[in-house]
Amino acid sequence: MLPKKVEAILNRQIAREDYSSQLYLSMASWAENKGMEGVSNWLYAQAEEERLHMLKLVKYLNERDGVAVIPGIETPPADFGDVFVAFDQVLKHEQFISASINEIVAECMAENDFTTQNWIQWFVNEQIEEEASVRAIIDKLNLLGKNNLYLFDRDIMAMRGGGEPAAE
Ligand SMILES: [Fe+2]
Ligand SMILES: [Fe+2]
Repeated sequence: MLPKKVEAILNRQIAREDYSSQLYLSMASWAENKGMEGVSNWLYAQAEEERLHMLKLVKYLNERDGVAVIPGIETPPADFGDVFVAFDQVLKHEQFISASINEIVAECMAENDFTTQNWIQWFVNEQIEEEASVRAIIDKLNLLGKNNLYLFDRDIMAMRGGGEPAAE
């Protein structure tokens, strides 16, 4: 049996992964309008990945005889200042998601749900990769500086290491 509290916190995570997807989609569209093709492609790909994370949670809940609640769409911001501010926001959001995943692990332990605790490790590892990849992007951005954004935009897609789509 899936404990009710675990079901609830996994549903909270569905909403958060869905919001992550919308946030990055909004950022992708913003970057596209600014002429940053590479940055927008990176963010469009990221938005797709977040949607896969959401689906992974939906399928798990249903498989465990829980009920996945599909959330409504929360409108994300539409303006992100500049690319430095935008990636800083991506990192902060990923850190928020990592903390959120950790809370799921804690809830699983409190409820003795070792099955979900084991399953959720995929997300724990995914967050290590996601944070590392965003930090690498920010490092590159700072290294190049605001006068070399053309190079940054040209090369960012080559930096898509790790964070592969959720494989079943
Ligand atoms: Fe995610
Ligand atoms: Fe993420």
